[in-house]
Amino acid sequence: MKSLPLALLGRLMVAVATVAFFHPAAAQSADSPREHLSLDANWKFHLGDDWPGALHLDKAGASTGPAAEKFSDQSWRMLNLPHDWAIELPFDKNSDTSHGFKPVGPGYTKNSIGWYRRAFALPQEDSGKRIWLTFDGVFRDTTVWVNGWLITRHEGGYYPFREDITDVVHFGGTNVISVRVDATKFEGWFYEGAGIYRHVWLDKTAPVAIAPDGIFVYSQFKDNVPQGKAEIHVETTLIRKNPVSDFKINHEIFDPNGNSVGKIEDAFACQPEANSQKFSHDNLTSVDSPELWSPENPKLYKLVTVISTGGKIVDQKETEFGIRTVGFDPTNGFLLNGKHYELYGTCNHQDMAGVGAALPDALQSFRVKKLKEFGCNAIRTSHNPPTPELLDACDHLGMLIMDESRLLGSDRENLQKWDDQIRRDRNHASVAIWSIANEEFSVQDTPQAANVARTMQDYVHRLDPTRPVTYAAPEGDTFAGINGVIQVRGWNYHPGPDMDKYHAEHPDQPNVGTEQASTVSTRGIYENDKVRGYVSAYDANFTSWSQTAEKWWTIFADRPWLSGGFVWTGFDYRGEPTPYAWPCVNSHFGVLDTCGFPKDNFYYYQSWWTTNTVLHLLPHWNWPGKEGQEIRVDALSNCKQVELFVNGESLGKQAMKPNSKLTWQVKYAPGTLSAKGFNDAGNVIAEAKEETTGDATAIQLVPDRSTINANGEDVSVFTVSAVDAQGRAVPVAQNKVNFAVEGAGEILGVGNGDPSCHEPDTYIANVPVRTIAVNDWRWKLADVPNHPRLLPEYAGDFDDSSWSTIKPKTDGDSGYYFLNEGQAAVYRAHVKLTADDLASDSVQVRFSCIDDRGWIFVNNQRVGESTDWSAQPAFDIKKALHEGDNVIAVGLRNESNMGGLNPDVNVELMGKPVPAPWSRSLFNGLAQVIVQSSRDAGEIKLTASADGLQPATATVQTLAGGVRPSVP
Ligand code: GAL
Repeated sequence: MKSLPLALLGRLMVAVATVAFFHPAAAQSADSPREHLSLDANWKFHLGDDWPGALHLDKAGASTGPAAEKFSDQSWRMLNLPHDWAIELPFDKNSDTSHGFKPVGPGYTKNSIGWYRRAFALPQEDSGKRIWLTFDGVFRDTTVWVNGWLITRHEGGYYPFREDITDVVHFGGTNVISVRVDATKFEGWFYEGAGIYRHVWLDKTAPVAIAPDGIFVYSQFKDNVPQGKAEIHVETTLIRKNPVSDFKINHEIFDPNGNSVGKIEDAFACQPEANSQKFSHDNLTSVDSPELWSPENPKLYKLVTVISTGGKIVDQKETEFGIRTVGFDPTNGFLLNGKHYELYGTCNHQDMAGVGAALPDALQSFRVKKLKEFGCNAIRTSHNPPTPELLDACDHLGMLIMDESRLLGSDRENLQKWDDQIRRDRNHASVAIWSIANEEFSVQDTPQAANVARTMQDYVHRLDPTRPVTYAAPEGDTFAGINGVIQVRGWNYHPGPDMDKYHAEHPDQPNVGTEQASTVSTRGIYENDKVRGYVSAYDANFTSWSQTAEKWWTIFADRPWLSGGFVWTGFDYRGEPTPYAWPCVNSHFGVLDTCGFPKDNFYYYQSWWTTNTVLHLLPHWNWPGKEGQEIRVDALSNCKQVELFVNGESLGKQAMKPNSKLTWQVKYAPGTLSAKGFNDAGNVIAEAKEETTGDATAIQLVPDRSTINANGEDVSVFTVSAVDAQGRAVPVAQNKVNFAVEGAGEILGVGNGDPSCHEPDTYIANVPVRTIAVNDWRWKLADVPNHPRLLPEYAGDFDDSSWSTIKPKTDGDSGYYFLNEGQAAVYRAHVKLTADDLASDSVQVRFSCIDDRGWIFVNNQRVGESTDWSAQPAFDIKKALHEGDNVIAVGLRNESNMGGLNPDVNVELMGKPVPAPWSRSLFNGLAQVIVQSSRDAGEIKLTASADGLQPATATVQTLAGGVRPSVP
């Protein structure tokens, strides 16, 4: 074990506040002041651009509307993050095709701006700590205020951002975070969602702490081949607010079984450099005969880092990592742990049925497991940095990652984002290669693009000495521009001769199939249907730039130097409904549909990407009206021979060529289509059948997990199907199914994988609101001070009978501008409320315009103030009200032009949310319900019913525990 020289100034970073992010999975210890708290629960949300002037840049703390600390968000909807409001909008055939026909984005301002607010308390004991606010990802442009202070303006829908908010928080008091999200601009050409769709965190640290993303641990072996001991490098970056100079860094490494296998104890002193708030220290140790990480054996080590100063622990953090090597070789392709390893990859966007872009962590694991079922061992995070929890799932379940940036660029902003991405993701065992960009058509062949690519690539090599870099190039034999400088040549399409030629001309450059296939198919459909927007699921349809699954894979399987490739795509996603447009709203590229239900190509890949014995027949065997007509039957299998039967009669045996499939033309007769698969010795090793079923008689419900955590986040994914009287799944059932949930959870979303379905994925509980107009306003010029002082005119029993009156005008709001610049007045009105009214969940008063400043009183109690004539403020008044007559009074000062109070004022009485009825139609026999736990341990009971069918009920147990440390 040895200590490397102190690397202070060379690694000195600029501003501390926005540089990097630490890994959310990193744990905290009771001995350390660090707290890593989830801020996902209990946000208030409002959709609409109702406060266009809220951002004020003239003075600190001058922003108005929801940005202001004192703003009533009573009537806003309560929700938990992650949240995607685009999924909640109805489809609109005039909106963007490639984004999946949701009316959000350019031209839809009203639906594209959302506000979130969240109050949180900080105890007085936290005073002296550093407080950080981290957003893992918001779509898209985000403005954040804390207690009315503008904290950050972040552009970009895929990158994390973090701010040190210590200066502006109230210790021993309540704090308010206000977030304005503007999703008016697209960033991609696929569904991107809208809103705070990843986690939000509040971190508390000591003034001296491990920097955000301040631990980098990686292993190296001689010649990049794991033999003997692994060298373990640990880079620690610390930040300090106060001038502390002596630190002790202790690292301890634990093997996958929890045994301590290495320790580093190192004390060092650092000079109190001006501005040296951030500095790094490197250590080296080794682990003998380590257990190597791979997709098949995803064993993780853990590094525990403890920082102390003056004998006191000031920080502690756990970092998971894997010991393994990756490499790309021009002749042998991808090398994992020194050996050729074929990449059976899929590209994936981040959305899913039911939830859009806002996936609870459990769905990341759900999706990774689905991909592994057909042998996929690598994901390309196309075309953006992933949600961190996807990487966690891949580390733990065994999946390699091509980690892609959103945009090519060496400008300061893009490089900062690239820096953030690399620092955040580089500890993950799953990450095997970085991708600088995808298909930058306009520039990719230019010398400038080569320069930019080189800069981004060099950046990786500085921050991560262990992984190579690629670019997803949509080109054939082109070496100009990016391809000429990139370490690993990425191939989007062009399989075959172009690749051979290129490889012959550039024999020293490794290659990888960054994006292949783009085969289009719809689950359970066997005839193209332009009107409804379905493509047959035979492996027969593809775009002008792409191929069938069999075609591209046969080419790659023969060329190990290509390293394998990534199918476009693993899952269907919203948008890009190629080859169709409306009514089709989803892509058809997936091996799995948007729910994760397998299409037939799943079995093609499973045959050649796994060692399982596979035999699958298509199509289903329900073809009333087609008796006697020829139907194409395919067998997807890795058996050496397959024999096909219709109603027991053999249609012959065929030999299977590697990486192919078998096809028969069969005269349809209802009954049983069956097959036997044989091995080399002629023994039957697999059987498959498709039966003609009767009509559906009953619903079935099966949860993917029957026990989940009662943590308010975990989910169970129910498969809904219909069966006939003999209990056989009916592959053509399209029944509409209604769902009801009871107990310790609720429904989060529903889906069915139908690319042309316009039914909602999510149903929002309705909050009943009753509105009482506040009429008969009286007013009088008065000496209203420039601060909230009680005046006799605010009292309930003040006699205002001699005052002037104003009424809302039916022809618009003109006519209440009675005050000249500098004049002030008091306005008063009465509202009668019953005991029933007061039993409402909340009561607020909403104003149309208070021009310019106003202090609002109810029954002589101050309920709020207004500082922005355009803010349409609302105030929570329930506590100040009583049964019978109530007086609302506004002291108002007009500061410029004419002004006054718009008498269009309402009291709003809000009831308890009424749960919406959930439903979804089966699509070719299947639908999906995602159910999320509450924090109460118990049972979740889901019932599914459909007209004329026997209903089904299934339960999931929720076990106490698994609640992550959270902000109350
Ligand atoms: C590729 C592109 C993908 C997707 C795909 C559809 O060229 O990189 O994002 O659009 O085409 O085939």
